Amino acid sequence: MTNTQPTKLDAAHFDGKALQWDENPVFQERGQKIAQAIRQSVPLHRQMSALDYGCGTGLLSFPLKDELGAILMADSSGGMLEVVAGKIAAQGVDNMTPVKLDLLVDPPPAQRFDLIVTSMTLHHVPDTDHILRVFHDLLNPGGTLCIADLDQEDGSFHGPEVDVHHGFDRADLGRRTAQAGLADARFQTVFTITKTRETGTQDYPVFLMTAQRAGA
Ligand SMILES: C[S@@+](CC[C@H](N)C(=O)[O-])C[C@H]1O[C@@H](n2cnc3c(N)ncnc32)[C@H](O)[C@@H]1O
Repeated sequence: MTNTQPTKLDAAHFDGKALQWDENPVFQERGQKIAQAIRQSVPLHRQMSALDYGCGTGLLSFPLKDELGAILMADSSGGMLEVVAGKIAAQGVDNMTPVKLDLLVDPPPAQRFDLIVTSMTLHHVPDTDHILRVFHDLLNPGGTLCIADLDQEDGSFHGPEVDVHHGFDRADLGRRTAQAGLADARFQTVFTITKTRETGTQDYPVFLMTAQRAGA
């Protein structure tokens, strides 16, 4: 009998994708567009400490690196982090540190951040409320959370064999974000991924949500 249960995309899956990740022009453009929207929505500065959670190969944070202070590049995939480390070395970057971290199982880092960014990772995290609370606790007072992810979709983005969130309803995510203690959740559409199949093309909008931890 074949197993039809949907499965999660684990670290081994992303390890296998890491070396080719940056060859995808859609991933590149998505990172650039999200970075641009963050730049326009959050006053960035060189003293700002940042966490990129689920950083992958760093397609979101590399475009922002010269506008931020220390950036912790966190991912559960060692393969993704090896690519990040290679890019850091090749470009002589001095403010990025890769770290293997899964906040669902590992203790959170001791440090606190002025900015947390996360791109296309929230839908892989089963317990949204839990990770929002962890993000809240990792932010300094006045700090900003930036989440980029899919708007609610019909499950066709990954297909029925993959166990992930089918994007997010903005109002619901905004409520959950407020319950986690983060204020002023704002949403904007920053990118659209178009997938072409035999049955036609389908658009998947990507939002950026920004929200703040109350100031000191
Ligand atoms: C779709 S990729 C996005 C990568 C990158 N942020 C980008 O926009 O190109 C999702 C990333 O989240 C990471 N990830 C998934 N679950 C995670 C978890 N629980 N903790 C840390 N990273 C996780 C994966 O390893 C992968 O690198």
